[in-house]
Amino acid sequence: MKILGIESSCDETAASVVEDGRKVLSNVIASQVEEHKIYGGVVPEIASRRHAEAICGVVDKALSDAGCTLDDIDALAVTYAPGLIGALLVGVNYAKGLSYSTGLPLVPVHHLRGHIAANYISDEKIEPPFIALVVSGGHSHIVNVKSYTDFEIIGRTRDDAAGEAMDKAARTVGLPYPGGVNLDKISVNGDENKYKFPVPKISDSKYDFSFSGLKTFAVNLVHNASQKGEEIKAEDLGASFIKAVTDILVAHTVEAAEEFGAKKIVLAGGVSANSRLRRVMTEKCRCKGIDLYMPELKYCGDNGAMIASQGYYEFIAKKDSEEFHNLSLNAIATKSIDKV
Ligand code: KG4
Ligand code: ZN
Repeated sequence: MKILGIESSCDETAASVVEDGRKVLSNVIASQVEEHKIYGGVVPEIASRRHAEAICGVVDKALSDAGCTLDDIDALAVTYAPGLIGALLVGVNYAKGLSYSTGLPLVPVHHLRGHIAANYISDEKIEPPFIALVVSGGHSHIVNVKSYTDFEIIGRTRDDAAGEAMDKAARTVGLPYPGGVNLDKISVNGDENKYKFPVPKISDSKYDFSFSGLKTFAVNLVHNASQKGEEIKAEDLGASFIKAVTDILVAHTVEAAEEFGAKKIVLAGGVSANSRLRRVMTEKCRCKGIDLYMPELKYCGDNGAMIASQGYYEFIAKKDSEEFHNLSLNAIATKSIDKV
């Protein structure tokens, strides 16, 4: 079964054809990063306009790269939540138009479920159940993935998402957007023990996160140093910050896996590309005898293949459902991963 996946929730217009949820036949991404860089972050209005300009070409290329036409496609999958509403609407309306004109089923896909599915296209063996650490620009969750379509959130951030914290720390040391990836690059040469960040404490939950205090700590370090005329090396601050964030992510996820008796941990979302997170999680899982799965780097960020993959599993779970022929589908800016 071939699914065409469409993604437009933030600043990447993406489309892909995936066979049987696992085999990527094409993966086309038009990134707007260069344009948003001038403003230091994503400007929603610009994002929507660029998606509208790019989407026809991106979908056409995804079909032609896969050697397909729409006649070969069995269903359409589209990110409908969560994300920037104007950006989501472009993908959703385009997919609705395709569904109306072709009669193909239209499968709504939750963006974070898609990030988890990036693992299904990276490793043919991985199957639920497992514990997933989902860390993106807008969300940080520990999720008990009971099946391909059954999700339970067991931990979440109380304030900033991990990616958002990375981006803010990067800005503090003068790095351009996209901050997280640039912070990762410079930090590999830094001393991660140079600055000791506080460990955030949340009294009523073992698994929740809080990253805003770490960001404030970084800002204060930079201000205090500049007032004293001292120099702060961006690579040392970056490395220490990344250590603080990733140590918390790893500790909470492994503890959750042990408590829930999970034999597998899965990383997902843009921050799963972070080199220290991947390295430390690998070491920790090896010690604990837990199997670790991580998306290939090219599938960590937003892409259409992960949406097509998750779309496949949503579709086969209730193939005959009328809801896949419902053209009243709307985009939703905020929606929890565990809600249908
Ligand atoms: O999943 P994603 O591509 O988009 C959202 O759904 O939000 O995640 C983007 C986030 C950004 O905050 C970005 O800075 C972060 O992922 N990110 C990284 C790395 N690559 C992307 N953070 C740390 N290290 C990286 N290598
Ligand atoms: Zn994302």
